Amino acid sequence: MSIELTRRDEFAVIRIDRAAALNALNYEMLRAIGRALDQVESSDARAVFFIGAGEKAFCAGADIGELLGRSIPDEYAGTRLGQEIYSRIESFPLPSVAIVNGYALGGGCELALACTFRLGTAAARFGLPEVKLGLVPGYGGTQRLPRLVGMGIALEMLMTGRMVPAEEALRIGLLNRIVEGDPLAAAIQYARAFSGHGLLALRLVRDAALRGRDTSLREGLRIEADLTTISMRSDDGREGARAFLEKRAAIFKDR
Ligand code: CAA
Repeated sequence: MSIELTRRDEFAVIRIDRAAALNALNYEMLRAIGRALDQVESSDARAVFFIGAGEKAFCAGADIGELLGRSIPDEYAGTRLGQEIYSRIESFPLPSVAIVNGYALGGGCELALACTFRLGTAAARFGLPEVKLGLVPGYGGTQRLPRLVGMGIALEMLMTGRMVPAEEALRIGLLNRIVEGDPLAAAIQYARAFSGHGLLALRLVRDAALRGRDTSLREGLRIEADLTTISMRSDDGREGARAFLEKRAAIFKDR
């Protein structure tokens, strides 16, 4: 099995299980991630984690062996498949956490970029080395990296293809946190800081930030006003305010 879906407590765990090829993703694996997301979406999980099998890699990118010998329509369709799966992760109803336990290169780095949060072990290494192959990243790297770390650093990474180690990734905002010990246990502890909040508010607040990122401040404020209003009219919004006034813990229903 190359994509494994399991459960740890209230969290879904999608493990890329192809350690012999440093968890490089072929198209079948991308489709399997899509199917795993279908299952997670219909479960009661509170967040979804992505992790790589083995000690060495989160994911070393697209399977380079699959990149050659295809027609232009097939190449385009393959790129769009990766983009669609990653965009689905970005706007998934549940928050996502990439647990970067080694190399996150090319499509692996882009997978981490699509997640809501990125945790790394000391072994985490981020890079978009496609230029070294004479290629351009195709699963969102040229778009999400500048938005996350700024254009100057992004262009340096994109145009040199160099790998960024964990400490530097933390400094430039590519990593949210460096974790020690069992990375999955650390991710559970990290996610518990938000997993008790209502899923509706979590989704709306993330959507406001992400949709606002791609537009003007004026338009972003309109988006914020819309989503704030939706949250105020939601059961959870009413329950949260009521619970505060009644000095008790809120009981959210994710709607
Ligand atoms: N695709 C297919 N196989 C890969 C792979 C990839 N992206 N990355 C590693 N592998 C395979 C190697 O071919 C090797 O297989 P064999 O044992 O059968 O020879 C195995 O994984 C172990 O790799 P190495 O022997 O190379 O391990 P290393 O420790 O010497 O080097 C590495 C590690 C620096 C990560 C190196 O493997 C490497 O540079 N990998 C390629 C990284 C890369 O260029 N990724 C971008 C891919 S293109 C892309 O992702 C496009 C996009 O935007 C979607």
